[in-house]
Amino acid sequence: MYFPAYRPRRLRKNSIVRELVAETKLSVDDFIYPMFVMPGKNKRVQVNSMPGIYKQTIDNLIKEIREVKKLGIKAILLFGIPSHKDELGSEGYDKDGIIQRAVREIKKKNKDVIVITDVCMCEYTSHGHCGIIKDGDVDNDETLAHLAHMSLTHAEAGADIVAPSDMMDGRVGVIREELDENGFENVAIMSYSAKYASAFYGPFREAAESPPQFGDRRTYQMDPPNVREAIREVELDIKEGADIVMVKPALPYLDVLRAAREEFDHPVAAYQVSGEYSMVKAAGKLGWIDEELVMMETLVSIKRAGADLILTYFAKDAAKILNR
Ligand code: PBG
Repeated sequence: MYFPAYRPRRLRKNSIVRELVAETKLSVDDFIYPMFVMPGKNKRVQVNSMPGIYKQTIDNLIKEIREVKKLGIKAILLFGIPSHKDELGSEGYDKDGIIQRAVREIKKKNKDVIVITDVCMCEYTSHGHCGIIKDGDVDNDETLAHLAHMSLTHAEAGADIVAPSDMMDGRVGVIREELDENGFENVAIMSYSAKYASAFYGPFREAAESPPQFGDRRTYQMDPPNVREAIREVELDIKEGADIVMVKPALPYLDVLRAAREEFDHPVAAYQVSGEYSMVKAAGKLGWIDEELVMMETLVSIKRAGADLILTYFAKDAAKILNR
């Protein structure tokens, strides 16, 4: 059927009809809100390049979690800023480290919030790399035991899901084994499976105080031109026991997200990263774009491309709009 018999504009004539035929709908249920926690009491510092996003102490974090829950957001992703960094990132697997304490405190009164912890060494190491350094590069196999141990301490503290973001080969398998051996077979793994070596992480590294002190992350994070390799990465993680797989960043990698969605049945998450957030915020502030509309358009695009879950710093802002 062609024009004039068929007129696609008929189903666009007003917002009610448009909603009726919308193929994709955003839902607060899919959002995961990333949060930064730091040691101390009653402190709250806005991240310079991420307006509206804070590094805060546990007491204030818990206050914000109450707000997050009221908005209908069901899950948070936690990043820790330790009081002290060293070569081995030892606060990362200290049972009284910042993340472990934060998770215990959150879970005391908020059993209904899904707590996901980022498992990676870069926030805790003095050199800012995601693993143990040997001969000037991150040593894959030495790093694995540390990641497994870190995951176990998160599970012991009460994390529902651990999310390894380091991109070491074989980490999902060793983490699964460590959790299972210690009775945490119900703690899930959301793996940063296709995580690219991206300049879009810049603002996050300011927030987490974690830029690499030498070199970059290109020997472990994925090379931006590759999509078939991303499928191999996702496949490995699923075989090793990942429950949810992730593509990161989101908007510049929607083709990767779509490919992962079509290839696998597992839930696929997309991480709209710090730089994606900052760009929209900055242009919005300058009055160059309509921040709210662009935000919602990016999120629905991520969903349309195939994301089941969306990790986004916009979770609260978008929830407010969806709840209107
Ligand atoms: C830790 C980690 C990073 C992000 C999530 N976990 C930074 C990095 O790999 O350099 C980035 C998140 C963001 O930019 O919002 N490895």
